[in-house]
Amino acid sequence: MEKNTRLILALDVTDRDEAIQISEKVAGYVDAIKIGYPLALATGMEIIGQLSKYAPIIADFKVADIPNTNRLICEQVFKAGADGVIVQGFTGHDSLEAAVKLAKEQKKDIFVVTEMSHPGALDFMQQAGEGIAKMAADVKASGVVAPATRPERVTEIRKIIGNELSIISPGVGAQGGSASDVIKAGADWVIVGRSIYQSDEPDMAAKKIVDEIKEVI
Ligand code: XMP
Repeated sequence: MEKNTRLILALDVTDRDEAIQISEKVAGYVDAIKIGYPLALATGMEIIGQLSKYAPIIADFKVADIPNTNRLICEQVFKAGADGVIVQGFTGHDSLEAAVKLAKEQKKDIFVVTEMSHPGALDFMQQAGEGIAKMAADVKASGVVAPATRPERVTEIRKIIGNELSIISPGVGAQGGSASDVIKAGADWVIVGRSIYQSDEPDMAAKKIVDEIKEVI
């Protein structure tokens, strides 16, 4: 993924035409489009190929299974045209390694969830977040997902993973995080959904975030 605007759109709409229209509008402002279960379940996996002409696609399927199943899932997602897949880290090193090995063979990316951005992540995930970040670095994943709602945790995670891995960071806007704060804290990309796709002018909403990021880099 090329690092230009440092913005990734989280496209959690459930209508194919709307997804395509928004992607067309924001294509110039985003480095990637993240799609997840809402859009894939509503429209089918072929949406990945349809949107990939606008930007690289990251499939946020938070894959969390045994190694063999992780590999089978990632194979299907890459076959559909995705450039990257988000997988969970809590399943442990062998499950993660299976996904990373496949991704490397296919020159694709695996991003590993550390601690999530919502309040409930403090119940269980935060305690494991630093260990998961270290494991992601050890197995040489492409990057990790870390919470824009807690920029101080992004800084901690950056210290653990060093500069070889990327940090993609959701939680900006609707969940309360700030794009400029989390970029300053060490994130490479911010992931933004509702603040863009629910806007009357998604392109202008995306531009505003890109301009905000430009001011701090
Ligand atoms: P909003 O609408 O809140 O969308 O801007 C955020 C998007 O990111 C996903 N999300 C996460 N994905 N780890 C992840 O892997 C996280 O901590 C996390 N928090 C939010 C969310 O599903 C939506 O697509």
